[in-house]
Amino acid sequence: IKKIAVFTSGGDAPGMNACIRAVVRTALHFGCEVAGIKQGYQGMIDNNITEMSRHSVSNIMQLGGTILKTARCLDFRTPEGMQKAYDNLKLNGIDALVAIGGDGTFTGAERFSGIYNIPVICVPGTIDNDLYGSDFTLGFDTATNTVIEAIDKIRDTAESHDRLFFIEVMGRDAGCIALRAGIASGAEAIMMPEKDTAIIDLIKTLEEGAAQKKSSSIVIVAEGDKNGGAFNVAKKVKETFDFYDTKVTILGHLQRGGSPSSFDRILGCRMGFAAVKALLRGETRKMVGLRSNEIKLTDLKEALTDHEFKLEEDLLEMATILA
Ligand code: F6P
Repeated sequence: IKKIAVFTSGGDAPGMNACIRAVVRTALHFGCEVAGIKQGYQGMIDNNITEMSRHSVSNIMQLGGTILKTARCLDFRTPEGMQKAYDNLKLNGIDALVAIGGDGTFTGAERFSGIYNIPVICVPGTIDNDLYGSDFTLGFDTATNTVIEAIDKIRDTAESHDRLFFIEVMGRDAGCIALRAGIASGAEAIMMPEKDTAIIDLIKTLEEGAAQKKSSSIVIVAEGDKNGGAFNVAKKVKETFDFYDTKVTILGHLQRGGSPSSFDRILGCRMGFAAVKALLRGETRKMVGLRSNEIKLTDLKEALTDHEFKLEEDLLEMATILA
């Protein structure tokens, strides 16, 4: 391998910059040239590709977002788009890829690498923590900390006004952020897609809280929850349970920003380093993951198989008892 290109694709996540830096510096260390592709697959198609040096990744570790920018690219799903992308890689002398992103990124990488026989290693970068083969994805820890900080602040005002807050958090089809943030902020209830909570059961929980003289309550609603988001849940609850003054907060994209936590910085470094070493060993179409604190590779096909998200029953039971 003479030249490795790195790119970020899909939703940005804190820790991506640490990973880009690790890819660039590891590849240079082992004698490869490195290119950065801007805006993920879109940049591959548009030939938005730039040479990377040690210096081009200086002072980026602490930055949220991704210096390479990112995009969700529909053109790459077409044969014409892929062909253009491949032609541009050849034009730039690129013979291997490190792709940082979520399952959409991996699906594209798997197909592309299969068709054009170009080695690719993927790094799980998404706040959702929804990828099989890694205990943690890049950005999840920071996003969860950001959510907790926001909920703590909402708790102050909820308590002062004796209010019930429904707080919607991101996570797409996964409730990982909701569950962890709910535990760490002492939320009274957590609604998430892995567990169907009926509104009637939620009301029972809130009634018990009111009977115990809880003056405020926080309900975390994962965006993927089957009851249809925080506004819907709040509306349905209010129809029969009107004990509290009720408010809704959608935390939205602030969850994706901010300086990465130490965990995400170190994870980004470890994954970027491991991704380049894997390419140089001749590995391809694999995802780098962290399992039991060890870096492990998983076949992209396996990572992309529709694994059912396992509800962490023990955590949920604990959250219910401790709230
Ligand atoms: O996958 C990360 C994520 O932030 C999800 O939690 C959320 O559903 C989605 O991306 C939002 O995507 P966009 O920024 O394109 O609206």
